[in-house]
Amino acid sequence: MADTCNIALIGQKFMGRAHSNAYLKVERFFNVPVKPVMHTIAGLDLISLAPFADRWGWKKYGTNWKDVVKDPAIGLVDISTPNHMHAEQALAAISAGKHVACEKPLAGTLKDARLMKNAAARSRRSKTFVWFNYRRCPAVAFARQLIQEDRLGRVFHVRARYLQDWGGPDTPMSWRFQKKYAGSGAHGDLSAHIIDMARFLTGQEFVEVLGAMTETFVPDRATPPTSRKTGGRVTQKKKPSRTKVDVDDAVAFVARLEGGTMATFEASRVAHGHQNDNTIEINGEHGSLRFSFEDMNWLWYYDARDEKATAGWRKIMCTSAGNHPYAGAWWPDAHIIGYEHTFVNMVADIMAALGGEEPIVPLPDFADAYETQRVLEAALLAAKHRAAVKLSEIK
Ligand SMILES: NC(=O)c1ccc[n+]([C@@H]2O[C@H](COP(=O)([O-])OP(=O)(O)OC[C@H]3O[C@@H](n4cnc5c(N)ncnc54)[C@H](O)[C@@H]3O)[C@@H](O)[C@H]2O)c1
Repeated sequence: MADTCNIALIGQKFMGRAHSNAYLKVERFFNVPVKPVMHTIAGLDLISLAPFADRWGWKKYGTNWKDVVKDPAIGLVDISTPNHMHAEQALAAISAGKHVACEKPLAGTLKDARLMKNAAARSRRSKTFVWFNYRRCPAVAFARQLIQEDRLGRVFHVRARYLQDWGGPDTPMSWRFQKKYAGSGAHGDLSAHIIDMARFLTGQEFVEVLGAMTETFVPDRATPPTSRKTGGRVTQKKKPSRTKVDVDDAVAFVARLEGGTMATFEASRVAHGHQNDNTIEINGEHGSLRFSFEDMNWLWYYDARDEKATAGWRKIMCTSAGNHPYAGAWWPDAHIIGYEHTFVNMVADIMAALGGEEPIVPLPDFADAYETQRVLEAALLAAKHRAAVKLSEIK
C-alpha cells in the first residue's frame, strides 16, 4: 500500500489552482509510491478560502501560514505566493522539518535565494523542489533525451525567448510590477523559465553574461481600488491614483555556456501577438531542435545528416507511450495534453522522489534553482553596469 504525505498549500490564486488540480489528479493517472493528501490550504482571504477548499477538496483552510507550516500533520509545504514570501515561508517550513515545493523564481532576490539554498543544504529531513514545470512537457523531456543521445553533437547555439503581451499600459498595478514583491519583472517571471530550460536541455551551466538590457515601457500603472469599511458599510476609495513601476517590462541578454555555447535570451510582457510564447531552439553540429509552448505537444527536429534532397524539419508529435516521457500516463497517441498536465507530471515526480524512486526527468531542488537565480542576477548586473558579468563573480 502506498504511503501518504499531507500537503499544505500556501496561495490560492493562479498557481494555487494549478497545484490543487495536480494533487487532485495525480493518482488517477500515475502509480505514485506516496499519495498526496490535500490537507490544508492557506491564503489571505478568508471569505474566498472556504469555497476554494470545498471546490478543490482541501480538508482544512486558514489565513495564518505560520501555524499551518508548524502543524505536525503536514509533510510537504507548497509555496505558491508572490516571490518576496518564498524565503520566509521556505525557511519556516524547512526549520519545521517539512519537505518544500516552491514556485519559481526561487526568490525575488539572490540574497533570499541563497538563504533558501543554504537552509536546504543544512537540513537532514527536508527535500526541496522548485516548480519549473516546463521541464515536464513531454516534448521538452524528449528533447533532452535526444541531446543526451548526442543527436545534435556539439551544441553551438541556444536561442530562447519567452514573450507575453498582457502587460500593456492598461494593465493595473499588481505585485508583479513592484520590486519589493517580485524582485524583477519579466526577467524573474519569464527569463527564469528559459534559463532553467537552457540548463536542463543542454546540461551546461552558464559561464558569462556578455551583455544585457532591460526596459520599463510603462512607468506607472493605475492603482487598483481598495475597499474600506466605514460604519459597517464597505466603500471603495474614490480618487484614481497611479503607482510607480520599478521593474522591467522586457529584458534581453547574451550569454556563453560551458563548452562555448552561444546563447541569446529575450523576455517581454508587452510583445503583442505572443501570449505565452515560450520558445527555445538549439542548434548543434549534427542538427537542431525547437520547442514552442503554444504548440507544446510537438517537438521540431532537423537532422543535418539526412540526404539533402529530402532533408527538412520533422514535426514530432510527442504523445507516444513508451517513446515520449510522460505520454504513457495520459491518453492514446495524438490525444494531446495541455498546461495543467505539466503540473500533474511534476507532482507525480515529487511523489516518486518522496517514495525513494527516480523521477522521470530530474527535479530541480533549491541548489539547482539557485544556479538559475545566479544567472538572473548576472543579467541584471550586466544591464545595470552595461558590462559583461562572469558567473564566477556571483556567489
Ligand atoms: N510555474 C509557472 O508556470 C508559474 C506561473 C505563474 C506564476 N508562477 C509563480 O507562482 C507564484 C505565485 O504566482 P501566482 O500567479 O499564483 O500569483 P497570484 O497573485 O495569482 O496568487 C498569489 C497568492 O498568494 C497569496 N498570498 C500572498 N501573500 C500571502 C501571505 N503572506 N500568506 C498567504 N498567502 C499569501 C495571495 O492571497 C494569492 O492567493 C509566483 O512566485 C510566480 O512567479 C509560476
